[in-house]
Amino acid sequence: MKNRVPNRDFVGARVIDPTLGLDAIRTIAVRNGVIAAIIDGAPAEPDLDAERVDCAGMVLCPGFIDPHVHLRHPGDPQKETLESGLAAAAAGGFTAVAAMPNTRPPIDRASAVSQLIRAAEAIGGVRCYPIGSVTIARAGDSMAALRGMAKAGAVAFSDDGATTASLKALYHAARLIADLPQPFLSHCDDPAFEGALMNEGAISDLLGVAGAPNLAEAAIAARDLLVARVTGKRWHLCHVSARETIDVLRWARSTGVDASGEATPHHVRCTDDQLLGFDASMRVNPPLRSATDVRALKAAVVDGTIDIFASDHAPHAPDDKEPPLSHACVGFSGLETAVAAMFDTFRDLPIATLVANFSTNVARLLGVEGGTLAPGSPADITGLHLERQWTVDPAAFLSKGRATAFSGQAFDVKPAMSVVGGAIVYAVDRSGRPLQGPNAARRAVKA
Ligand code: DOR
Ligand code: ZN
Repeated sequence: MKNRVPNRDFVGARVIDPTLGLDAIRTIAVRNGVIAAIIDGAPAEPDLDAERVDCAGMVLCPGFIDPHVHLRHPGDPQKETLESGLAAAAAGGFTAVAAMPNTRPPIDRASAVSQLIRAAEAIGGVRCYPIGSVTIARAGDSMAALRGMAKAGAVAFSDDGATTASLKALYHAARLIADLPQPFLSHCDDPAFEGALMNEGAISDLLGVAGAPNLAEAAIAARDLLVARVTGKRWHLCHVSARETIDVLRWARSTGVDASGEATPHHVRCTDDQLLGFDASMRVNPPLRSATDVRALKAAVVDGTIDIFASDHAPHAPDDKEPPLSHACVGFSGLETAVAAMFDTFRDLPIATLVANFSTNVARLLGVEGGTLAPGSPADITGLHLERQWTVDPAAFLSKGRATAFSGQAFDVKPAMSVVGGAIVYAVDRSGRPLQGPNAARRAVKA
């Protein structure tokens, strides 16, 4: 039997919920792990047994859900474990994550989906939703047992880490499960460009290294959204990086395709000239693009063409990110910086829009609960400190990965609390110290 989560009143926070049109000081009353009421002032019928959690100075919003993380379980505990990855998620302000299937072995069958769910539940804390691979062993040619994985709890399908090479396999997969709600999440990168070290353009020409151009992404995005169009399958483009991909997404939507796209913090903040010194740690797929692409991507977030944020948390062991560029693994540990980086980049957008991009729109994409504080919903809540200066120090990450695109950068928004089903899985005060006392959840807190 699971321990019952204490009833709690989260008092005095600025509560922002785009689904309720709410931005005001409120108390969130949580009973039996569910949001019972959002109250202006004190509860009418105070529950004397309920713990009072003082949230003055905090913003509370629907729990953030990261639709794109690599937890390296099973197979690569030197890069990340479920424990370290879920702790990093909690510290980063996430109450749920969707885990990509490029593990060893890959999540390509129902038993693997069930095992991941069981392993994450045994740890507790942040919810972990498996994404099943589209093809067997993620090899790109034969469709995996998608219905079985869906039944076992897969929330989406993707061969992320690589494009599903065979159009035939992708088309048949989408057509044969068009009736299921699980979306396809495309990693768009034409396999013909395998071996690329960075974006192909003026900087790669100067350095004399092989690159993958915008076209390698946009052409696959067009292919995949055509599959969406002919099959009617819900589709999502992972880590959009090229301006032409945004054009493709706009075109697909204009023809009625049910498609979305995600932006990552590194693609909206970094450019390929950061590799001018052959910096191996900045290698990522898709690669960092030009300043023109970054401008287009930011504009697409501002106009709502892209309305989902993802960290693409891709932790690696320190040695994996060492020079030379040609041998470095791709990706960054992103869970603990994503919220700060996106709030900083899009400081001119309403906070409610950022909350929707981190929470409501992701819940809708994946068909999972959460994304709202409406009474009756599970009490998944993200707490933030605004105007809280801090500097990224990868040595302090709970993730085992230390590679980040943002080392030493100063931000002014910091996750303060993560509540999952009413349980406080992470909580710190304004100076970053773990909250003490009965409300402190120590599992995900390093101290
Ligand atoms: O940079 C990346 N890292 N992009 C991917 O698509 C995969 C990921 C990883 O698994 O390391
Ligand atoms: Zn990817």
